[in-house]
Amino acid sequence: MTANAAAATASLDGMRDILPEHAEVDELGELRIGGVGVSRLAAEYGTPLHIIDEAGLRAQIRRFVDGLRRRWTNSEVLYASKSFPIVEMYRVAAEEGASIDVAGGGEIVLALKAGVDPKRIHFHGNAKTTDELRLALDTGVGTIIIDNFDEIDRLEALLTGPQHVLIRLIPGVEAETHASQATGGVRSKFGFPIEQAVAAIERISAHPLMELDGVHVHIGSQILNVDQFAQAVDSISRSGTFRTYDIGGGLGVKYTYDEVAPSVEEYLDRVVEAAAAHLPADARLVIEPGRSIVARAGVTLYRVVSVKRSGRDFVAVDGGMADQLDIALTGQRYEAVLANRMTEPWDEEVQIVGRQCESGDLLVEDARMPAPAVDDLVALATTGAYSYSMTNNYNGALRPAIVFVQEGEARLVARRETYEDLLRLHEPVQEA
Ligand SMILES: Cc1ncc(COP(=O)(O)O)c(C=O)c1O
Repeated sequence: MTANAAAATASLDGMRDILPEHAEVDELGELRIGGVGVSRLAAEYGTPLHIIDEAGLRAQIRRFVDGLRRRWTNSEVLYASKSFPIVEMYRVAAEEGASIDVAGGGEIVLALKAGVDPKRIHFHGNAKTTDELRLALDTGVGTIIIDNFDEIDRLEALLTGPQHVLIRLIPGVEAETHASQATGGVRSKFGFPIEQAVAAIERISAHPLMELDGVHVHIGSQILNVDQFAQAVDSISRSGTFRTYDIGGGLGVKYTYDEVAPSVEEYLDRVVEAAAAHLPADARLVIEPGRSIVARAGVTLYRVVSVKRSGRDFVAVDGGMADQLDIALTGQRYEAVLANRMTEPWDEEVQIVGRQCESGDLLVEDARMPAPAVDDLVALATTGAYSYSMTNNYNGALRPAIVFVQEGEARLVARRETYEDLLRLHEPVQEA
């Protein structure tokens, strides 16, 4: 091994778990993902840019689908598409054996565009509108997860044929996560409180066209203690005997060097152990991972716009909270690397800030890296989930492009937004 190659390998140590599976550092000290160097990607597609390691992503979906099936034959993995609702992502998830969880009409449309079999779509939401329910029924969406009595009213008015449904219950499990990501506590806005469950189940069961398959719970997101999923299984088992028990998603991932996250295997072992203890042996067991499927496969590539050396060293990049909102929203922390100079000494501690007009627009509080300069490339790691899906146009920011990379090839799966795209929404106003 040459000295450069050794330095390259060493520079990856400690961050293997937060960079994509197919990340490496080349002889020139540049980060490559899926065999493609970041400089080439930045030159061809611009920045900010979402880069997805396609082989790593596919392998992770398989870990869930095959891993669950090995442990519990009658099972189904729904990819929670809110984490990364991209046409190509729906296609990849379906190809690798996952069904799809959607949380709105737009996600139904995207999944259908990808060619997903509508029967494999599960429609969630605590405020599904009549139009969205009509869209779901017209397009043959397989399962609707009923959240409240008003939704039962709406479905009663709309149904003209049989419809599979699940009922969402509040499990009363307080998830150990950021308050905004906990959804299963007794005061949750999602699902029926346990004391209303019997009445709701009776109403749904009495309807000639609603086919009640079973029950659903979801305790929250970015949960690192797998015992909490066992609690969810225990809780859902108390709601009665059904064909299907859907315990939602929520498995957390490792974002920072010091964080420890359970593996998919550890998660599945714990869930299935609880299922074996509490659920009927012939029941269908459903899980809905989103974040843990896609987070690690993605990085966001930015270009350094300015380096301000004052009391603190501010490194400002060409993106920010418009493409990475969850930092401000949920306090999510990330790590960043200087992607074009990985093997130089990491002897500076800098603050990576965004370009939006908010002091809270901070990407990494204390990033250790070689002294960054204007035009260097910064890669924010583990951004595959809830980054692009929360992208917004704050300060007139344009949505980044997305590329999938694999075996030295890159393919554009979503183009960068343009100023024309921004203006298009205002055309009716301009014409008036
Ligand atoms: C009903 C439901 N299922 C699944 C998920 C996916 O959660 P995660 O991405 O944390 O796995 C969510 C997200 O909050 C959800 O609301």
